[in-house]
Amino acid sequence: MSVHLTRQDEFALITLDRPEALNALSAAVLRELAQAFEEVAAGDARALIVTGAGSKAFCAGADIKELVGRSLSEQRRDAAFGQAVLARLDTLPMPSIAAINGYAFGGGLELALACTFRIAAPTAKMGLPEIKLGLIPGYGGTQRLPRVVGEARALELIMSARSVDAEEAERIGLVHRVIEGDVVAGAMAFARSFSAYGLPALKLARDAVKRALDVPLHEGLKLEADLNTLAFQTDDAAEGMNAFMEKRKPQFKDR
Ligand code: CAA
Repeated sequence: MSVHLTRQDEFALITLDRPEALNALSAAVLRELAQAFEEVAAGDARALIVTGAGSKAFCAGADIKELVGRSLSEQRRDAAFGQAVLARLDTLPMPSIAAINGYAFGGGLELALACTFRIAAPTAKMGLPEIKLGLIPGYGGTQRLPRVVGEARALELIMSARSVDAEEAERIGLVHRVIEGDVVAGAMAFARSFSAYGLPALKLARDAVKRALDVPLHEGLKLEADLNTLAFQTDDAAEGMNAFMEKRKPQFKDR
């Protein structure tokens, strides 16, 4: 097994563990990730943290050794499967954080981009270098990177294959924080800024924001009103508003 799912306090932790290939995403690793995401979705973690084993790599991307000699239909199937696995991560019932501890290239950065948040070690390096292989990103990079850093920067990074260090990544909004020391501990500390809130409201807020760049403003506003009304119907909303009136801390129950 190259994907380990463990528990750290109230958080689920997924660790990619293929150091001999810089934690690259082989087909087997993708299948293990899919399984791990299902287990996380069915569990009670307040957030999921995804990281790579060792200090060198978060994930160096798709396993290039498996790409060589593939048929077109195999390649199409792989892209569709990789995208579906990362879409599952993007839509989990709880927020996710990539703890980027080293190289995050190609599919590795795409994995991080499918997380709700990204925290990086100062030594992290990130990029979509597929063009150097005569390829383009296939696990969502051309779609999620512009949504995160804007079209102009995404075009430059994808077409030059240039990688960015942690400092630049934070400056352009690719990562939310650069953290000295243990990046998983840093991701857990970051997750504590929202982990006491109810999961339904967190998910509805994430869904609304993520749709903002997909739809015209008038549709986005309608969606926001719908999701706002959905949130309003939850027990957590009643508890949150009652707690405010009673001047006490709310006890959210995720329903
Ligand atoms: N797939 C398979 N094996 C990989 C790999 C990858 N993506 N990246 C690194 N490895 C392997 C290397 O082949 C090497 O194994 P061997 O010792 O058996 O040769 C081992 O990991 C260590 O790598 P390096 O010796 O290259 O380490 P380095 O420190 O000199 O360089 C690196 C590190 C800059 C990250 C370099 O390994 C590299 O450029 N890797 C490829 C990155 C890349 O192009 N990723 C995109 C892949 S395509 C993709 O992801 C498509 C998509 O959208 C899904």
